[in-house]
Amino acid sequence: MEPYELYPALKHAHVAAAATSWLLFLVRGLWLLRTPWRLHRGWDRVVPHTVDTLLLAFGLLLAWITAQWPFVQPWLTAKLGGLLLYIAVGLYAFRAARTRAARAAGWLAAQGIFAYIVLVALSRDPLPVPWLLERAAAGLPIH
Ligand code: HEM
Repeated sequence: MEPYELYPALKHAHVAAAATSWLLFLVRGLWLLRTPWRLHRGWDRVVPHTVDTLLLAFGLLLAWITAQWPFVQPWLTAKLGGLLLYIAVGLYAFRAARTRAARAAGWLAAQGIFAYIVLVALSRDPLPVPWLLERAAAGLPIH
């Protein structure tokens, strides 16, 4: 089997890991703001990190298979930078922020960064807003 034959399965796995990561971040964010005592117990300690590691691993495998690399293709540099920022802002919201307002601000900012990464992935452009507006004006779907 040639590596490129794994492309469809890897892309599905990468997108599924991205969707799961977002869902977990959403639920944990609601816990953070409403019932913080639920956090950092049981599955919540392991599952989000495992999903995020898989997301990155599938992303790097896809990069290898499609011969596109961060620091070579600007959109992949933007994605990797966005992912690091997403992790840093997430850590701030869940670990460092002390007030409810600061936690909410960190969590909301991380949502915005995640949306940016998805738009970069779909447009393959580090500045995806013009692409988004063009698609919207033409009535075309973004996926
Ligand atoms: C939060 C982080 C990430 C999210 C939400 C995300 C999301 C996505 C999505 C939705 C696609 C599918 C795009 C489409 O259907 O056209 C995709 C494709 C891809 N992603 Fe990611 N991604 C993330 C991180 C990464 C990272 C860190 C890398 C590698 C450094 C990466 C590499 C790729 C590659 C190579 C593709 C396939 C491109 C192609 O088909 O030409 N992703 N990503």
